[in-house]
Amino acid sequence: MATKEFPLVPETVPTVSTKYRKIVTKIPVPESIDTLTRLRNLEPRSMGGQPPVIWEKGEGFTVSDPYGNTWLDFSSGVLVTAAGHNRPEIVNAIKGMAEGGMYHTYAFPSQVRLKLVEAIAKILPAPLKRVFLLSTGSEATECCIKLARTQGMNIGGAAKNIIVSFDNSFHGRTMGSQLAGGSPGLKSWLGDTDPRFVQVPFPDGFRQKDTSFNVFLKTLANKGVDPKNVCGVISETFQGCNATLMPAEYAQSLRKWCNDNRAVMIFDEVQAGFGRTGKMFGFQNLGVVPDLAACGKGLSGGMPVSAVLGTEELMSIYGPGEMTSTHSANTVCAAAALANLEVILKDKLVENAAKLAPVLAEGCKKIADATNGKVGRFTSVGLVGAIQFTLPGGTQSDPQAAWEMVRLAIQKGVMLFAPVGVGGCAVKICPPLVINEEGLREGLSVLEECARIVGAMKFE
Ligand SMILES: Cc1ncc(COP(=O)(O)O)c(C=O)c1O
Repeated sequence: MATKEFPLVPETVPTVSTKYRKIVTKIPVPESIDTLTRLRNLEPRSMGGQPPVIWEKGEGFTVSDPYGNTWLDFSSGVLVTAAGHNRPEIVNAIKGMAEGGMYHTYAFPSQVRLKLVEAIAKILPAPLKRVFLLSTGSEATECCIKLARTQGMNIGGAAKNIIVSFDNSFHGRTMGSQLAGGSPGLKSWLGDTDPRFVQVPFPDGFRQKDTSFNVFLKTLANKGVDPKNVCGVISETFQGCNATLMPAEYAQSLRKWCNDNRAVMIFDEVQAGFGRTGKMFGFQNLGVVPDLAACGKGLSGGMPVSAVLGTEELMSIYGPGEMTSTHSANTVCAAAALANLEVILKDKLVENAAKLAPVLAEGCKKIADATNGKVGRFTSVGLVGAIQFTLPGGTQSDPQAAWEMVRLAIQKGVMLFAPVGVGGCAVKICPPLVINEEGLREGLSVLEECARIVGAMKFE
């Protein structure tokens, strides 16, 4: 269950000095060890999984520590900072709202909440129409699950309560969102025996070779699920560890199946939404529109904001006061998200993700090729790539190789978050959407160098 911590032992590493990267100390920095140790001693162990770098300041697509080191940010702080770090429009929006004297309103109306929901509603394809603001991605997916179940029971009675999701999916870490997720490891911690959450294989073409919709139908039949008891189907548009979009044909068949069986189609767009895939919403690559979409990360500008986007019918299920949260649409967070969305549109960041997609795709291939067969699968869409380290010739995860890759990247001035996905095998590449081609190419060539070193490593 435990994943690996990065040791707090400073290592001497080569000096780096380029336009975007600077490494001038040992890594981790000796002076940072006290802070890092105190955090490890006071927080749950779960908070200690990221590379031991103290984030002090960000600028565009770089992040710096307090000790003179700067990294090209290939993490976006877990796919969040679409408009980049320290973006003046976002900083000013936060400052303006806080200094304006209203930084908390609960569900009392505010002008900024109206502006944000109007701005989001304006980019929604029909029949998505209404916007419910929350704070985290998990809250948003959990809310979608709740809405689907309530709708199911309203129209089909108590038995229409099954949520279908996909193997290896990730929908967050609150109880409901984690139960909907498709990692048996994560669910066994919860003592999961809840038959109302059922998984089917995700058509990724790697762990599930047959990507036809038949697999969905057969799996439900094999598991004894009566389609009329399914209240909702939830999927990421691309699975985090894969960076593989659901095939369009599959998505269209799923759309039809949901219509035929009166099941709510939910896309978890927490990673994909707001430009990451080269479209505003990931599902716009698939030729379908879901009934509900959960968004977070890329919408937020870096503050805790998420959203459920839904149809008139689903968003009208709960009555006044029945579906709220203390901090939903917090005014400072809403102001930041609004500024972020305005930057995404004004600077054409969705188009930038689409334009740079081939550069990232080519870089992922070079990285994989450099590993001497340690990568079983590399995929990318828009500005997100996933390199899966596996044992030779198969799909079995090689978390040690993935971990070494991250460790080396940090030493060379490219910021990655710790490996994710099946068995911790996937190294994700996801720079802020404001990155330019020069920065992207530089970071990718550093990762290729790291991959070559990992390729030569022998593990027990
Ligand atoms: C696809 C997906 N859904 C949901 C979540 C949960 O979001 P949060 O961490 O904001 O609760 C994440 C977070 O990584 C995610 O990637």
